[in-house]
Amino acid sequence: MAIREIAQMGNPILYRNAAAVADPTDPEIARLAEDMKDTLIHVGGSGIAAPQVYESLRLVVYRVSARLIEDAAVEVDPWVVLVNPVLTLDAGETLTGWERCLSIPGLHGKVSRPGSLTMTYQNLQGTEITLAAQGALATLLQHECDHLDGVLYPMRMTDLSKLEFNAEPGHLAQDIADGVKVWPVLQDLVDAWPGRSRWLDE
Ligand code: NI
Repeated sequence: MAIREIAQMGNPILYRNAAAVADPTDPEIARLAEDMKDTLIHVGGSGIAAPQVYESLRLVVYRVSARLIEDAAVEVDPWVVLVNPVLTLDAGETLTGWERCLSIPGLHGKVSRPGSLTMTYQNLQGTEITLAAQGALATLLQHECDHLDGVLYPMRMTDLSKLEFNAEPGHLAQDIADGVKVWPVLQDLVDAWPGRSRWLDE
């Protein structure tokens, strides 16, 4: 078990095209996935990609919350390791939601992404799996797999006024006041915001 250091926005490793994992059953890959899981538990995140722990490989680990299971088309384990994931995005509905990233501490931003997709990946046994995802899970998978292509969520934003400090969640607070559903961790930011009553008409 090891908690890894997380690369921060600006580090070149986060902007590279990560290499395919040659052998998903390699014990070194299982060890790296374990480290990524330990790191996620330590920092309290939902998902992490290998480039974020300074390994430029196509490997993602995420954990499934109750909210994500609701949205998933198939049942999955609480912890999922994706080796060499490939996403096929559906052209239909777009989802707009607030995102955070372990590599961009202190900020959150509003991002629009396709609302459903199909993903194929290998697990650590080398079995190929196909999964359909909608809603929050679909956007989480896009965020994590973007890391494998050197893309961070601000690079997907079309309105940079919606990139803000966690300590000043003005637009986020307005969204919540307007009835938008957000992750509990984002609700916590607004609950803790001293400026809330001064700026918001609720
Ligand atoms: Ni991220």
